[in-house]
Amino acid sequence: MDVFNKITTNPGPIGKYAEQGEGYFIFPKLEGEISNFMLFGGKKRLVWSLNNYLGLANHPEVRKADADAAAEWGMAYPMGARAMSGHTKYHEQLERELADFVGREASYLLNYGYQGMVSIINAMVDRNDVIVYDSEAHACIIDGMRLHFGKRFVYPHNNIENLEKQLERATRLVNTTGGGILVITEGVYGMSGDLGKLDEIVALKKKFNFRLFIDDAHGFGTMGPTGAGTDEHFGLQDEVDIYFGTFAKAMAGIGGFVAAKKEVVKFLQYNMRSQIFAKALPMPMVIGALKRLELLRTKPELKEKLWTIVNALQDGLRKNGLNLGNTQSPVTPVFLNGTVAEATQITYDLRENYNIFCSIVAYPVIPKGLILLRLIPTSVHTLDDVQYTVDAFAKVKRKLENHEYSEGFAKKIIVE
Ligand SMILES: Cc1ncc(COP(=O)(O)O)c(C=O)c1O
Repeated sequence: MDVFNKITTNPGPIGKYAEQGEGYFIFPKLEGEISNFMLFGGKKRLVWSLNNYLGLANHPEVRKADADAAAEWGMAYPMGARAMSGHTKYHEQLERELADFVGREASYLLNYGYQGMVSIINAMVDRNDVIVYDSEAHACIIDGMRLHFGKRFVYPHNNIENLEKQLERATRLVNTTGGGILVITEGVYGMSGDLGKLDEIVALKKKFNFRLFIDDAHGFGTMGPTGAGTDEHFGLQDEVDIYFGTFAKAMAGIGGFVAAKKEVVKFLQYNMRSQIFAKALPMPMVIGALKRLELLRTKPELKEKLWTIVNALQDGLRKNGLNLGNTQSPVTPVFLNGTVAEATQITYDLRENYNIFCSIVAYPVIPKGLILLRLIPTSVHTLDDVQYTVDAFAKVKRKLENHEYSEGFAKKIIVE
């Protein structure tokens, strides 16, 4: 057998759609300046699929800070991993400022959120420990757990009753192994927009002995009175033992960080393998992140504008009978009932006839018969964009209900 056999026999869960979907549904090219309107297939489209929540991606101060830092430092500096030769006072400054912002004693930078998350989990647990996690955990959490030699127990998404059962099981187990329990949830769930029930999870700390770790990729910068995250939203920063944020979303950059008490961060600094054995974040990323963080702190109007757009979009869609599930965050999922074929037609219709570009998810990622169109509002959208989109979605809903998205429909609307 040749390891390459699978290339033809099993291209993978996403790879199997490459032939029909590549360039349109998968790996589409969005061109032009990052904004509410961008080019797709050479045409201007209203884009609702970027996690540029606060509009920082193209903010003039951010662009200038990035460019100045690149001119001064280049992309290479510092060379090497932090532990060897890649440590600078700017990395430390960013860590101090991030820790302050999220109300923690210390933080440590991660050269990508994903790898960082994998290594935080890997470092925090050993074979005697048990991980208890939400069934909708992001891929980076799942991959982190794949390195775990001990047990892991999953609870159905946000089902706190079941979480309690898993904690009972986990407690029985660690009583025999002598290990501990790590509970992992997301702050904001990136597909459905609902929040990890941090208040109810924290309440279980009275009954069970565990540490709580949250992945707040979508909450950092968007949730809480100051934008410090979903735990700030719940007023529970002291109860969340480990906080993870990425720069890839509200910060519109690359990298991430983990924040916690000093001794926890020190332990992670010395034990996160993806950080010890990989190159440090380049200086423009660090200086650029300092600028972004400054804007997060000093320009609350960015978050206020984001929420104006979020509220207008979500209210408008709901008023038109669209089902947004349980979102409580900027992430705006529109759930429709339909087949994968209909989902495809809807995407074509939205993109080609309405010039609206949003992400679409269907079976097998979500249950058969459901279609999820995911909209990400940002502070660079306008209320006109919202109105236009709400009207378009109301029409799409009607067409779907009238069975207008028949098999042949896409062929009529595909543009060359
Ligand atoms: C919930 C969640 N965690 C972690 C990540 C990974 O972060 P990064 O893009 O910084 O690697 C993402 C996506 O980017 C995410 O949505």
